[in-house]
Amino acid sequence: MGYQIAIDGPAGAGKSTIAKLIAKQKNFIYVDTGAMYRAMALYLLRNNVKADDITAVAETCVNADITIRYKNGEQIVLLNGENVNPCLRTEEVGFMASTSSANPKVRGHLLGLQIKLAEENDVVMDGRDIGTCILPNAQVKIFLTASSRVRANRRYLELKGKNIPCDLDQIEQDIIKRDHQDMNREHAPLKQADDAILVDSSNMTIEEVTAEIMKIVG
Ligand code: C5P
Repeated sequence: MGYQIAIDGPAGAGKSTIAKLIAKQKNFIYVDTGAMYRAMALYLLRNNVKADDITAVAETCVNADITIRYKNGEQIVLLNGENVNPCLRTEEVGFMASTSSANPKVRGHLLGLQIKLAEENDVVMDGRDIGTCILPNAQVKIFLTASSRVRANRRYLELKGKNIPCDLDQIEQDIIKRDHQDMNREHAPLKQADDAILVDSSNMTIEEVTAEIMKIVG
């Protein structure tokens, strides 16, 4: 077992940005588990599976071979051998990931890969259930959050920066809906582990959050 830093929290809290910076400073690998759920969602969408069709999701997910590689420190997700990184960050895939990840078959299919990565490497792993389910003995557990308005605004600015038309209120509604699904599902819901340290980044810069977590990591 390597050294484990688990970062959980709701959508858009800045987990991946922060986790990447921490991983770089510690020379650990960064494992983005959300990207694995997104790759699975993409596979289900491509196979025209309806998110709420529990049987079809369970039957189809076993045919998705999801692995990861690292290229210049960046995690590349391979779906049946194809690099799907460019297809993962859409709202459609994010929402499908949130719905299909409630299915225990989907979670079971991805759990082995996540645990193996943590067994073989020092990791910063982010997601929803890392501190509670995947790495219950992680040396450091962080629950990173921010108000829904702040999270929506960060996403809004990111999309604006890419000249993608968007609406702040709509983005906030989508975030609230996804959080609600993630927190209220039966299997591995999003929640702060008892021994996780809460970091609310609503009024903090990326540098401040990174510094605070680095202080905890030591
Ligand atoms: O973090 P990201 O927005 O990429 O995650 C997409 C979706 O994948 C989340 O809304 C959540 O439902 C699911 N997920 C999960 N468990 C994880 C990581 C992500 O259920 N460890």
